[in-house]
Amino acid sequence: MDQTPKTFGQQAGRRSWAEPWKIKMVEPIKMTNPADRQEELERAGYNTFLLRSECVYIDLLTDSGTSAMSDRQWAGMMLGDEAYAGSRNFYHLESAVQQYYGYRYVVPTHQGRGAEHLLSRAAITPGQYVAGNMYFTTTRLHQEMAGATFVDVIIDEAHDPENLHPFKGNVDLNKVQRLIDRVGADKVAYISLAGTVNMAGGQPVSMGNVRELRLLCDRYGIPIYLDATRMVENAFFIQEREPGYTGKTIAEILKEFCSFTHGAWMSAKKDNLVNIGGWLAVNDWDLFEELRNMVVIFEGLHTYGGLAGRDMEAIAIGIEEAVQDDHVRSRVGQVRYLGELLTAWNIPIVQPVGGHAIFLDAKRFYPHIPQDQFPAQTLAAELYLDSGIRSMERGVVSAGRDPQTGDHRYPALELTRLTIPRRVYTQAHMDVVAEAVQAVFEAAPQTRGLKLVYEPKYLRFFQARFERI
Ligand code: F0G
Repeated sequence: MDQTPKTFGQQAGRRSWAEPWKIKMVEPIKMTNPADRQEELERAGYNTFLLRSECVYIDLLTDSGTSAMSDRQWAGMMLGDEAYAGSRNFYHLESAVQQYYGYRYVVPTHQGRGAEHLLSRAAITPGQYVAGNMYFTTTRLHQEMAGATFVDVIIDEAHDPENLHPFKGNVDLNKVQRLIDRVGADKVAYISLAGTVNMAGGQPVSMGNVRELRLLCDRYGIPIYLDATRMVENAFFIQEREPGYTGKTIAEILKEFCSFTHGAWMSAKKDNLVNIGGWLAVNDWDLFEELRNMVVIFEGLHTYGGLAGRDMEAIAIGIEEAVQDDHVRSRVGQVRYLGELLTAWNIPIVQPVGGHAIFLDAKRFYPHIPQDQFPAQTLAAELYLDSGIRSMERGVVSAGRDPQTGDHRYPALELTRLTIPRRVYTQAHMDVVAEAVQAVFEAAPQTRGLKLVYEPKYLRFFQARFERI
């Protein structure tokens, strides 16, 4: 096997992208030794969420809240108007959401799940259904806790890690239609549309798909709410892959996409390039009234929603930076660089490579480990042991238990996610990661699975503990 990545630099006529920034401040990190990592992993119950960050070398647990802010954002932090009510920074945030996402009314929240909580309570009547393009952990739990049953309506291709469909996040309109026929349109609270789809591997939704979805939903009066967490990255894939969009900017595509939806919730910790924050935005005044009233109970007054003034200022600036074409190109470009290395070395990953992460296909790493011995959790543990790289399980542990039967839910995708923070690591870090993954892949036949020894009731993946079998 040719292990050198040199072929990438040698394609005739290739012009490389580079980051549209230079580094002004650095944070030292250090490699740990194998004995210390073994001890730390046992202390953490083989769960990468329970590792201490200081024991991690390259942290690819998540792209959430881990971005590097720009000098402009840090300068904005000094302009925090820390008033309880009516902070100037709220109005800046509100106008940035209106300008770039196009919604009318904005409610700030402390992060994405705060927004999910409010929207689920306001828009779901117990006994209703929510249809979504694959679930996300916190999103589905809030919908279920508000009394809804979640129905997955993503296209079948999304469940196949090797399928090369360019828009694997698309909604299967026939699945939506069948749900409406089965339960009745008034029983469908809303469509929960995510762009990109995190659990499918950061896969995008096409403009054509959201346009048709809107036509279908309009016939039945069903609203579409968008999980806009990584919608900027989704816009990049539309620009790259969908006929008619090559000449449009990311900002134009983002706004057009949002125009087909009735509102959105946001984890600003991703696309919006901040360490904390979120928001909800809708076009309907009555729904806004309800949300604006409810935010006071759970998050804070409707002009701060659990955030400091400085946090809202950083989000407002981040929104504008995030939609710049050169930023998105280098962000997705770095993820793709890692994906190209692993693909060239025949490491099984979800294809096509998505916007925010590489998803290792743990089923193909460990065909000898049954799913109830947690192949993806095992892979995350092995990667940490090998090189201090932290990743995240996105398989049977994350899927949790069926609320009716109490059994594990067995998702088709059993993945370990290497999530790339925005503007944080260099290409050399990506090389180190690729080599570590290859070492773990080569040792795979000798690797044993894990058993669950402690499991919390909600979102078990965050705090569950394991032991080696
Ligand atoms: N929606 C999506 C698609 C997400 O990926 C997340 C968080 C949320 C909503 C919730 O937002 O964390 O701000 O409360 N995803 C993180 C991740 C945790 O690592 O993928 P939050």
